[in-house]
This record gives sequence, structure tokens and C-alpha cells, in this order.
Amino acid sequence: MAFLLWLILLVAYFHGSPAQNTTRTILSGTRLMANSQNTSSWPSPLGDFAFGFYNLSEDRFLVGIWFDKIPEKTLAWSFNRNQPVGLGSYVELTVAGRLLLNDSQGSETYIYNGSLYATSANMKDDGNFVLRNSDGSIIWQSFDSPTDTLLPGQSLATNQTLISNANGTIDFSKGRFNLEMQFDGNLLLNAYRYKDPAYWNTGSFGDNGYLHFNATNMLMFVYNTTTPNQNNLTADKLPTPLNDYYHRATLNDVGNFQQFYYKKANGTQVGQSSWSLAWQAIKEPCIVNGICEEYGYCTSLGDNQKPSCRCPQNFTLLDPNNPFKGCYPDFAPQRCGKDSSMRNFTVQVIEGVDYYNSNFADLAELKHSDRESCRKAVMDDCSCMAAVFQVPERTCLKKRMPLLNGRSGTPAVDRIAFIKVATTSDTALPSPDRKKDLRSRDLVAGLIITGSVLILIFAAGAIYCHLASRPCGLIKPSSISSGIEINLRAFKFSELQEATGGFSRRLGRGAFGTVYSGTLLSEDGQIGIAVKKLEKVMEHGEKEFLTELRVIGRTHHKNLVRLLGYCNEDSHRLLVYELMKKGSLSSYLFGDGEKPNWRHRVEIAMGIARGLLYLHEECETQIIHCDIKPQNVLIDDHYNAKIADFGLAKLLMKDQTRTSTNARGTVGYMAPEWLKNAPITAKVDIYSFGVMLLEIICCRRHIELDQIVVEVEDENLYITDWIGSCIKDGELRKVVEEDEEALSDFTRFERLAMVGIWCVSPNATVRPSMTKVMQMMEGTIEVGVPPLISG
Ligand SMILES: *[C@@H]1O[C@H](CO)[C@@H](O)[C@H](O)[C@H]1NC(C)=O
Ligand SMILES: *[C@@H]1O[C@H](CO)[C@@H](O)[C@H](O)[C@H]1NC(C)=O
Ligand SMILES: *[C@@H]1O[C@H](CO)[C@@H](O)[C@H](O)[C@H]1NC(C)=O
Ligand SMILES: *[C@@H]1O[C@H](CO)[C@@H](O)[C@H](O)[C@H]1NC(C)=O
Ligand SMILES: *[C@@H]1O[C@H](CO)[C@@H](O)[C@H](O)[C@H]1NC(C)=O
Ligand SMILES: *[C@@H]1O[C@H](CO)[C@@H](O)[C@H](O)[C@H]1NC(C)=O
Ligand SMILES: *[C@@H]1O[C@H](CO)[C@@H](O)[C@H](O)[C@H]1NC(C)=O
Ligand SMILES: *[C@@H]1O[C@H](CO)[C@@H](O)[C@H](O)[C@H]1NC(C)=O
Ligand SMILES: *[C@@H]1O[C@H](CO)[C@@H](O)[C@H](O)[C@H]1NC(C)=O
Ligand SMILES: *[C@@H]1O[C@H](CO)[C@@H](O)[C@H](O)[C@H]1NC(C)=O
Ligand SMILES: *[C@@H]1O[C@H](CO)[C@@H](O)[C@H](O)[C@H]1NC(C)=O
Ligand SMILES: *[C@@H]1O[C@H](CO)[C@@H](O)[C@H](O)[C@H]1NC(C)=O
Repeated sequence: MAFLLWLILLVAYFHGSPAQNTTRTILSGTRLMANSQNTSSWPSPLGDFAFGFYNLSEDRFLVGIWFDKIPEKTLAWSFNRNQPVGLGSYVELTVAGRLLLNDSQGSETYIYNGSLYATSANMKDDGNFVLRNSDGSIIWQSFDSPTDTLLPGQSLATNQTLISNANGTIDFSKGRFNLEMQFDGNLLLNAYRYKDPAYWNTGSFGDNGYLHFNATNMLMFVYNTTTPNQNNLTADKLPTPLNDYYHRATLNDVGNFQQFYYKKANGTQVGQSSWSLAWQAIKEPCIVNGICEEYGYCTSLGDNQKPSCRCPQNFTLLDPNNPFKGCYPDFAPQRCGKDSSMRNFTVQVIEGVDYYNSNFADLAELKHSDRESCRKAVMDDCSCMAAVFQVPERTCLKKRMPLLNGRSGTPAVDRIAFIKVATTSDTALPSPDRKKDLRSRDLVAGLIITGSVLILIFAAGAIYCHLASRPCGLIKPSSISSGIEINLRAFKFSELQEATGGFSRRLGRGAFGTVYSGTLLSEDGQIGIAVKKLEKVMEHGEKEFLTELRVIGRTHHKNLVRLLGYCNEDSHRLLVYELMKKGSLSSYLFGDGEKPNWRHRVEIAMGIARGLLYLHEECETQIIHCDIKPQNVLIDDHYNAKIADFGLAKLLMKDQTRTSTNARGTVGYMAPEWLKNAPITAKVDIYSFGVMLLEIICCRRHIELDQIVVEVEDENLYITDWIGSCIKDGELRKVVEEDEEALSDFTRFERLAMVGIWCVSPNATVRPSMTKVMQMMEGTIEVGVPPLISG
């Protein structure tokens, strides 16, 4: 019956000829189908706009609104920009008063599912598609949820954003830039993946401001209702009479907000053939942040000022068909420790190129330097890959990896970029296949990541023999020559008692004892300290205590919490660390405060990996941490991650180090070796790191305790199983469905997730070493499909 009804309505609808000036009203029960031949749409009365299925290819459609009278059929709005639907999908104004999209797979999404019943719909001639209730008032309109375009008469309200397309008319999914109307009345352009400040803004024009595209004079204004018409954005390049033209304003795929006009056809006379530019926010396209992604730099020498991207020498385009996706180095970046003596590096000089922002927060800058000392500063610092010298300011800014916001031309005059590259090609890298898109992962399925892991498997027997003891903490302590002084301050117990206010400000409790906060006076004024009072320490462990301190005292790395001193008086054993005011990663990730954004999380994960790489492979004496978990990673004022509590395991009483009930490590992060009688190697840290890496990228605890009661299926309870099965089923995207930033950086997310799964392999020999982990995380070697965890 309902079927008949909508058929009748449908037929009645198509009877109206397009030339007729009637208000085309769509009634309940009407359907639009996505067909290959006659893809249906609901045109506006004069036919200027149409609502319906917009075909991307013969069998992929967006539900959207487009300029229907021009050959380009420019899309002005779409509902499902990220998820095109297939042939046979339909949109229906249901008899239940909803606007439904049922895709060809039978999955239903509501375009409108509000509490009021929609009884009719209109595609209006201004490009607004509206739903009305029985008394004719509008209860929903497409103008309220703009995508990348504003039309005359439309507003961008407080807190709303336009999000660019990924690639012009090729890929309409969400791209990298947004135009945001902030609630303080400031309109700004952002590359939202990155934390950098906006690259364009209007300044505030009063609280609760909004942007309005005036349909009378075709100018855009930033308003607030009490102080209207304060700012007009658009200049006066508009042709007259205005009504002979179509107008639109669009945020494009290279981050520019632009207004265009297009001459309407007059009778049989063919109109002007393309959109012309009336105004644009960005005059110099290279100032757009992140436009060339990682390592690439922007140039805009073309006569039409279109931006393009280039890679520095010894770097290669990630996607040879699209320079806007960034570059990657042809070589493994320099590492501190062994590496610096094994390979030769040189510093490449690029005049007139800047990599804007992302300076080392803690190193700050070298003031009053010159070109040569800036070049030398990069050459001599094994942890630094690049710097930019600002000629007039005579300032040398060391840059973080990966290099971002590369630009040349006007914004970079008087800038010189110094980038350190390897001069010898890198035999350690399994080129030329690395960096292949992960989508081709089927090809490498089942393969083990690199040769060195294979070697490890063959060498497993040997490892068994050599590491019969439980080597938590330090290995090879014999390498410490007794002559070297401890480069640490020895505190008197009374000093620390005073500094901590009599041990009154308790910060927390760890495996080794209680931690208190305090302050010390130094030449630089007051500094915050964290004092750890060791308990359960071996009674006659004086010699061990000092041995361990020597090693810990000589570790020095950006991603390790720094030990400042110690106290070894009578029975008191205390350690004094720098204070990390931001607390632990655990509270940062899972606490009540605002969650760290994606880029922060990636940086934290990379930082922890660097710290752990240093402990395992780069410091003189290998240190196995044995208790890697978010509670043991602290965050400093600049949001750098620092590993805490390393190198202490030997200080525990012997029977504490490993019993069946009190193994080192924490349940959930503990490698299976702890429970079996298998040898403990650095691979226990790799396992714990893997669990933590998954937690960081998914912002979820390793076990979802509060969801056990709720509907989570068993396999989703543990993050390792959950991610493992998502990878197996090709459904990893679901994990970050709600995390727009992670979603837009999905290739990296997928890479990190796969690295995490490699790390939690139950078989220690299959787990990659920290060097490999680092290289996979950085994307310098390809990540194979991990052997998936079962059970
Ligand atoms: C139909 O045309 C008349 C006059 O030409 C105009 O006033 C009216 O607004 C038009 N109706 C619609 C729905 O466009
Ligand atoms: C649309 O195509 C179908 C077959 O694909 C045809 O039966 C129908 O008549 C067409 N409708 C119109 C309005 O052209
Ligand atoms: C969209 O469909 C039309 C026919 O309806 C076809 O001519 C056109 O090539 C299709 N567009 C794409 C991108 O496939
Ligand atoms: C959506 O389509 C599927 C199959 O095409 C159908 O089973 C389902 O009932 C439809 N849903 C609605 C709400 O019409
Ligand atoms: C906009 O967002 C701010 C901050 O989230 C909020 O305080 C304000 O109420 C929002 N305003 C509107 C109109 O939604
Ligand atoms: C408009 O901005 C002014 C200045 O910030 C402010 O005092 C006023 O309350 C704002 N109006 C509205 C409606 O928020
Ligand atoms: C649009 O501009 C016209 C002419 O400048 C003005 O009269 C009108 O109030 C403006 N409309 C809005 C909504 O600001
Ligand atoms: C808008 O601003 C531009 C430049 O500031 C100015 O030339 C133009 O006259 C203004 N237009 C209106 C309608 O105020
Ligand atoms: C169409 O042409 C007529 C006469 O040449 C002119 O008066 C009218 O303004 C034109 N309309 C458009 C939309 O160009
Ligand atoms: C869009 O895709 C084309 C073809 O792949 C590429 O050349 C172009 O650089 C891309 N543009 C952007 C902004 O990604
Ligand atoms: C590094 O350079 C030195 C001298 O310039 C050369 O002797 C040495 O062989 C080079 N090392 C490598 C690994 O190429
Ligand atoms: C870097 O580029 C130079 C010049 O093209 C080349 O000679 C050198 O071999 C490259 N180095 C590496 C490691 O590819």
C-alpha cells in the first residue's frame, strides 16, 4: 500500500515539467534512487540547484546539492562526503517524517531524524534544501550544516566550521583545512591536524559572531547581533548586475577560502565557461600551514600563484602522483650513540626556505649566531636533523621531526634551511619497497618485517643460553670503570627533609617507594624536585646502590626523567629527580581533563620510543626497564614524554625481583615470559611498550573495565585483541571513527597500530627490537602484517 502511494507520488512528481514555475514540493513517501542511467534528483523551481544523488563514478554517489544548470555541476553541499553509496541506494522522505538514506547494502542513515515530523521538503532556488512540518515552517535545512561551501544567504554560525575537500572535484571527502567561526567572533583558517596557530584570521568582532554571505550585495560579513556589519571580507571585484551571476564561497583543498562568480546562461546563449575569482583570504598560498605535509616545502612561482610542493634533495615524494602528501628521507636519520660513528652525514643548505614553527621547545634557539655556526649546530647534534637560520634576526632555530610547514618565496626570504642527510646510502634499509602504501599489505602478508628479526629467530637458542639470569635493570655492569665519579649531587638527609617540608607533599607511590614533591634553591632560583624514598632496598646493598646510580646518573636523554642527585645516609636511600608538573601519561590519557589531541599523542609515542631506544641500545650500559606503563611515563611542561623509574630493579631485595605473585611489571603490560619460566630480555619492554602504544593511539585503556558489564563483546575487552581483530578484518578505520584527526591521518594510525601488534607478539623472538620499532614508527621501513594474536 505504502509502495503504491509513493509510486503515485513519484509519478506525479515527474509530471511537473522543469520549465514550469511551481513550488516543487516533495511529499512524504517520495523516494530518489541512485541509478546508473537516470540518476534522480529534486531540482529547484527555476532549476538552478538540485538535490539528489551526485555521481562520483558510475556506481558511487554522494547525496548532495549542486549547481544544476552549469556543465560543471559544482557540488555545494553533501551529506555523506566520506562515505559514498552504491547503485540502488535511495533517499526517502518517510511517512514517519524522517529523511532517510538507505544504501545499497541496506544500512540506514538519517539525514534528518529530529523530534518534529517532516511532512514536506523543498529544494529552493537559493540552494537551500528544507524540510517543513505540517504548518509549513522549516524544521531542518541544509544551510545549517555547511560542508566546504557557503552560498548567498547562508551563514557560518558561532562554533561552526567549513572543512575543505581532500582533493578538489576528485575526492570530496574531508580534507586537511578548516574555516572556523570561533565563539569569540574570530574567524580563522587552520590546518586542523596540526597544533600550529591559525594561518589566517579576522580578529575578533564581538562574542557570538557569525559569518554571513549577504544575498543582496554578495559580500561576506563577520557579524554579531549587537554590533552588526562590522567587517566585510569581500572586496569589490564583483560584476554587475549581481543577479546575472551565480555566487559561492568555498574553502579549497589547499587551505584558501575563496569567493567565486559564474555567469548564468541567458536563453540559448551559453554563459561564461568557468568560475571566476572575486576574492580570496590567502594571497600568498605558501603561508598555509602543513600545505606540503612532512618534509616537503611549498613554492608558488606559477603565474596564477597556484601552490606546489617540492622535496629537499635526498628526500622522495610519498605519493609520486600527489606532491601535496609530503616527502620522506631516502636514508635513516642519524641516531645518537653507535650510529654517528658508523655513517657519514652532511648538512644540506637550502637558501630561501623556511620550516615554520615546531622548534624544539626545550632547546629554544641559538641567538646572535651566524650561518656557519647554525650549520655546525645541526652537524654536531646527533639528535637534531634540521635548523632554520633567520638572517636578519641572526637566530638559529633547531627543528623538530618531522619537518613541517616548509615554504619558500615571500614568507621565507632571509631564511636558510639546514638539513642533515646521510652521504652514504644505507644498507640497513630494505629499499626500494619501503614506504609502499599499506593498502598493498596483502602482498607482504605473512612476511616477517625484516631480515634482522629472522636472524633473531635463528639466534633464539643462543639468547636462551646467555641470559639465564633475570637481568632487570642493568646488563653488563662490568663496563663501568670504578674510576669514574658519579656526576650527581649527594644530598644530606636533612636537606631533603627541609626541601620536601618534612616529606609532607606526597605525589604518589611506586614499586620502589613513596614519592614526595619539594623545592630546592639553586643559582637559577627555585626548582621543583621529586624525591623518591626507596623502601624494600637490600640491606647491605651500598655497593649495588652506588653502581646503579653511576649508570643512571650518566643517562642523559630528552625522553628520560633526569636524576639530579641522591642521598645515601645511614639507612636512608633517596633519589632526587626533576619534577614533572604535568604528571603521568596515565592521568593525561585517561584522566578527567581534556584528552590530548592526535598529534600530541603521536609525539608522545615517538618520545617514549626514543627514550626506550636509548635505554636499550644507545646508552653505554643496556638498561631494561621491566615496568613500562603509562604510570611510569611523565609529561613535562612542553608535553614531552619522559620515562621514569628506569634502572632501579637491582635495588630491590632479591626475593622481590621475581616471585610468581609479585613479578616485576604490571598485569596487562606484562610479557608472557614473566609468567612462564622463560628468559627475561629487553623484549619484555617491547611488549609493554606495544600495549601502551595501542593505548596512546586509541586513547583507551588496555582493558575496558567499566565496560565489562555493558555490551562489549569479549574480544573487544583487551585492546590487543580488539585492535588485532580489527586489523585482521580490515576494519581498523572503525577504531578511530570518532577521532577526526586520527582519521585524517589514517595511514599513520594504521602504521602505529600494526607496530603495536608486532610488539605484543606472545613470542618474544618475533617482537622487533627498539631500533626496528622506531624505524617502523617513523615510516622509514615498511611494516609487514603482524602475526595475528589468537585467543
Ligand atoms: C513564479 O513566478 C512569479 C512571477 O514570475 C514569482 O512571483 C513567483 O515567486 C514564482 N514562484 C516561484 C516559486 O519561483
Ligand atoms: C529511469 O530508469 C528506469 C530504468 O533504469 C526507467 O524504468 C525509468 O522510466 C526512468 N525514469 C525516468 C524518469 O527517466
Ligand atoms: C555520471 O553519470 C553520467 C550519466 O548519468 C555519466 O555520463 C558520467 O560519466 C558519470 N560521471 C562519472 C564521474 O562517472
Ligand atoms: C533499507 O533497505 C533494506 C534492503 O534494501 C531493507 O531491508 C530495509 O527495510 C530498508 N530500510 C528502511 C528503513 O526502509
Ligand atoms: C561555542 O563553544 C563555546 C566553547 O565550547 C561554548 O562556551 C559556547 O556556548 C558555544 N556557543 C554556541 C553558540 O554554541
Ligand atoms: C557582541 O560583541 C560585544 C563585544 O564583544 C559583546 O559585548 C556583545 O555581548 C556581543 N553580542 C552578543 C549577542 O553576544
Ligand atoms: C545585506 O546587504 C543589504 C545591502 O547592503 C542590507 O540592506 C541588508 O541588511 C543585508 N542583509 C543582511 C542579512 O545583513
Ligand atoms: C568592503 O570593504 C572593502 C575593502 O575594505 C571596501 O572597498 C568596500 O567598499 C566595502 N564594502 C562595503 C559594502 O562596505
Ligand atoms: C539576458 O539577455 C537580455 C537581453 O539581452 C538581458 O536584458 C538580460 O539581463 C539577460 N539576462 C541574463 C541573466 O543575463
Ligand atoms: C589532487 O590529485 C591530483 C591527481 O592525483 C594531484 O595531482 C593533485 O596534486 C592533488 N591535489 C591536492 C591538493 O591534493
Ligand atoms: C666517512 O668519511 C671518512 C673521511 O671523510 C671516510 O674515511 C670514511 O670511510 C667514511 N665512512 C663511511 C661509512 O663512508
Ligand atoms: C643525496 O643526494 C646526492 C645528490 O643527488 C647523492 O649524490 C647522494 O648519493 C644522495 N645520498 C643518499 C644517501 O641517497
